[in-house]
Amino acid sequence: MNDLIKKLFENKTLNNEEFLDILSSNKYDEELKKLANIRREEYYGKDVYIRGLIEFSNYCKNNCLYCGIRAGNSKANRYRLNTEDILDCCEEGYKLGFRTFVLQGGEDPYFSDDIFLEIISKIRSSFPDCAITLSLGERDYKSFKDFFDAGANRYLLRHETANESHFNKIHPNNLSLEKRKNCILQLKEIGYQVGSGFMVGSPYQKLEYLIEDLRFLEILQPDMIGIGPFLSHKDTPFKNFENGSMCLTLKLISILRLMFPYSLIPSTTALGTINPEGRELGLKAGANVVMPNLSPSNVRNKYELYDNKIYSGSEAAESIELLTKLIEKSGFKVSVNRGDVKRTTL
Ligand code: 5AD
Repeated sequence: MNDLIKKLFENKTLNNEEFLDILSSNKYDEELKKLANIRREEYYGKDVYIRGLIEFSNYCKNNCLYCGIRAGNSKANRYRLNTEDILDCCEEGYKLGFRTFVLQGGEDPYFSDDIFLEIISKIRSSFPDCAITLSLGERDYKSFKDFFDAGANRYLLRHETANESHFNKIHPNNLSLEKRKNCILQLKEIGYQVGSGFMVGSPYQKLEYLIEDLRFLEILQPDMIGIGPFLSHKDTPFKNFENGSMCLTLKLISILRLMFPYSLIPSTTALGTINPEGRELGLKAGANVVMPNLSPSNVRNKYELYDNKIYSGSEAAESIELLTKLIEKSGFKVSVNRGDVKRTTL
């Protein structure tokens, strides 16, 4: 096993059989973790970047089978923030030290291009030193381009799974992997820093599909990579499926760090939800970003993608001091700069 890990460290890739060997062993190797940390340190030192996550709407026109805010979930308690609410979140976040705002929401038809353009332009002019990250789902090329021209810098759009038949099993008929990949490639062409990623342990996933995910990312060379364990939601068709594994997620974070040493990898909320120490373990596995919740507190529990999603304590943006302490205790330090991708070593 150690030979394989060293090979991955040196070559940034393996063949399918070798990847499968690492993924199928049921232990998370110390060596893998150690080498992932060496690579992270070469590019980012001990820095952990913080992003203020603004979940602006939980309305969604899509009906993804895994997601708690899917259109078909009539039990979801829906909300949307207006432009002023969103700017207030940024204001609050700026005071707390955030220099990246992530606008994330369901695909809510209320938010026309014009509305987003207004929001983006206002954030851009009020906070010229901040990065604006969008996570709005699929849109057409012109919308992506207009948002970029209005001042957005980064875009997160997970491919969710790079295996087509698997994609079709966990998504409704009107979504396709091809369209998803095209959107991601368009974002890159426009000039965004692009993030993609996938769920670990989603229903019907096989280890072989995870290798396809890694291959897709090798083509994309993403700036940011978000992964987290699948967690079931009680009001979705996948309510009876088992949750993904924390161990496999941590292992994949280390693998991703070795494959893409330059990348920004968040230790995600899903990881923090599956285990109280998940977020810290994610950082120790090679992640270097955390995204505390900056949404107004009265809507936080409504953006419920999966059961028991955490939103309080160090997950809350206003508890940045607590988070800072936890990060320091894990051996890292919170960086107050924008935290753009670094394609070269320090
Ligand atoms: N479990 C884990 N992650 C989920 N997401 C959506 N639903 C779930 C779930 N049940 C993830 C998707 C999406 C991101 C915003 O949240 O990967 O891209």
